[in-house]
Amino acid sequence: MSIAARDVASASLLDVAAVRRDFPVLDQEINGHPLAYLDNAASYQRPTQVIDAIAHYYRHDHANVHRGVHTLSHRATEAYEGARDKVQRFINAQSRREIIFTRGTTESINLIAAALGSQLSAGDEVVITHLEHHSNIVPWQLLCESRGILLKVVPINSQGEIELDRYFDLLGPRTRLVSVAQVSNALGTVLPLQTIIAAARERDILVLVDGAQGIAHQPVDVQTLDCDFYAFSGHKMCGPTGIGVLYARESILQTLPPWQGGGDMIRTVSFSGSTWNDLPYRFEAGTPNIAGAIGLGAAIDYLENIGIQQIAEHERRLLEYGEAALADVPGLRIIGTAMEKVSVISFDIEGIHPHDLGTVLDHQGVAIRAGHHCAMPVMEFFGVAGTARASFAFYNTTGEIDQLRSAIDQAIVMFR
Ligand code: ALA
Repeated sequence: MSIAARDVASASLLDVAAVRRDFPVLDQEINGHPLAYLDNAASYQRPTQVIDAIAHYYRHDHANVHRGVHTLSHRATEAYEGARDKVQRFINAQSRREIIFTRGTTESINLIAAALGSQLSAGDEVVITHLEHHSNIVPWQLLCESRGILLKVVPINSQGEIELDRYFDLLGPRTRLVSVAQVSNALGTVLPLQTIIAAARERDILVLVDGAQGIAHQPVDVQTLDCDFYAFSGHKMCGPTGIGVLYARESILQTLPPWQGGGDMIRTVSFSGSTWNDLPYRFEAGTPNIAGAIGLGAAIDYLENIGIQQIAEHERRLLEYGEAALADVPGLRIIGTAMEKVSVISFDIEGIHPHDLGTVLDHQGVAIRAGHHCAMPVMEFFGVAGTARASFAFYNTTGEIDQLRSAIDQAIVMFR
């Protein structure tokens, strides 16, 4: 059956067949079956528009940014800074000075842990949740070791939702930062950010949001959210790997020390001391990932053109369809059944190791992720070493979910 025909069942507002034509990688067979790429929580695929933007830059415009007086350097600078403007608009930051390009969410969080961490003292507290990705756990644990800060963890319930009452209880006079995911990468749970941030605000506590899994699924407005920091990665929103963003409220950024030293982040350097460049360059030492930023800008254009609301609606339908499709698989347990979820289904099947399942599914052309998803505490909570995880993007179809179901059925026959 053609993809267009298969997708009728989803009754989506999106023209998925047209969207898929933008993603050349999707049009291939794996092990003799059409590829069903259902590993989008790990990394999205890239549309031709993003690939072309990067290729165009390298073919026509590459030079180093900010430093040159020649035409290519001007072009590269314009494209790089243009991408910053797109990011600013996309998340509605007040100023372009609040947009720092990084290697990704992990680096963005580490930047804050280093810069803000240098201002914390022994006994200061950072609050996170049990749902966090390792990149929003380990940087704070390193600060516990180096500066004696204390890490407080908001517990979760059996649906994989955070226990809000316990969160409020954890906010105390020594809490300096709340650092939470927008969406759990392992389970798909959407965290109640408005409530979390309002409670921190009332107590003058800073808030960092790890938006890695949220940015492509929900419209983000950092001014409405009222968070102080928002981190995300290009590759989780159809952009390149190796590029990400740290949004930071300007008034706070002004008070933070630089975290990496080198070119571009300075105004003057002498052996008696150095002075720092303006924002955001103070936090971008060295030649940046120019092509990555340009690719990210193209990804933003692409997503805006489709519409994040449209994307969210299509993915909501896929989640509903997927949960129904897997509901009667013998021995299958969905892990993470929060009221508010994005299009992620984490599950285990009695008697089949997730890695074995992932391998057998690959033989049927179905790509899912198997393992702990860099969220080992979540796995520990649910008493599993890992899960199988299918995660849907706006270019996925109900036909691909049928393919997943049929591959699971075959795996069960094989293993039982
Ligand atoms: N954090 C990525 C995931 O959830 C790699 O798969």
